[in-house]
Amino acid sequence: MSSPLLSVSGLTKWYRRGGKTIAAVDNVSFHIETGETLALAGPSGSGKSTIARLVLRLVEPDAGRIQFDGEDFLALGGAALRSRRARLQMVFQDPLAAFNPRATVARVLDDPLRIHGIASRLKRPRRIAALLERVGLTPDLAPRAIHEISGGQRQRVAIARAIATKPSLIVLDEAVSALDVSVRGQILHLLLDLQREERIAYLFISHDLGVVRAIAHRVAIFDAGRIAETGDARTVVDAPQSAIGQALVAATPRLNRA
Ligand SMILES: Nc1ncnc2c1ncn2[C@@H]1O[C@H](COP(=O)(O)OP(=O)(O)OP(=O)(O)O)[C@@H](O)[C@H]1O
Ligand SMILES: [Mg+2]
Repeated sequence: MSSPLLSVSGLTKWYRRGGKTIAAVDNVSFHIETGETLALAGPSGSGKSTIARLVLRLVEPDAGRIQFDGEDFLALGGAALRSRRARLQMVFQDPLAAFNPRATVARVLDDPLRIHGIASRLKRPRRIAALLERVGLTPDLAPRAIHEISGGQRQRVAIARAIATKPSLIVLDEAVSALDVSVRGQILHLLLDLQREERIAYLFISHDLGVVRAIAHRVAIFDAGRIAETGDARTVVDAPQSAIGQALVAATPRLNRA
């Protein structure tokens, strides 16, 4: 049997706050298969974004292991880590904060193609146009500044940037949370299309269990840095077994009506 695309075991991250030490992430283990979506849900402060930052190696853990694409991801450094980063991309809630708002759309998409040596200078404009079309935008958006386009368009640009390097895993932290309901639905459809066609796996962080139920294969529900419950997304959202899962469902009006 082949090993999972991403496998996390015993992951732990401590933060010091006001003289006390708290475990933002406390001995967490999970895995994601190629082409699969694992959602992380849970209340504010339960450690979801810390998991995202650990998996992306934006922060280093105090304990635990991360295997990615069959390698000890925590042991990588320098050029090896930079090259693997092409296979592991991210989309955050607010692309205005993630990108220079004055940069053009073309610039935001040109960066990964240039940095990872994916296309020559001459070929990059065509590649950028193709990426824009792939995420449902028109190439005439290329010269516009990030701050001039709509929130939904910006999130499509963020997705285009994430797929530019042909990743096997994308970490999405509340990536659709700031969008209105109809735009959110369109972006979720786009993500599902991309996953079907490119076999991309998603680590999909969301506090919205309706969204989790719509997009994820499996879900892990977090509580105070630990996994309280994990399983098939629909099964867990429809009939949570943990107290925190039941509280989250009770707090999601759209689900209660269904
Ligand atoms: N850089 C940091 N320094 C100190 N404490 C931190 C830091 N980052 C996170 N924490 C703490 O770690 C815990 C987990 O935070 P995290 O951001 O991972 O939660 P979250 O589940 O993403 O919450 P939200 O749903 O509000 O985004 C919280 O108690 C938070 O205050
Ligand atoms: Mg968060």
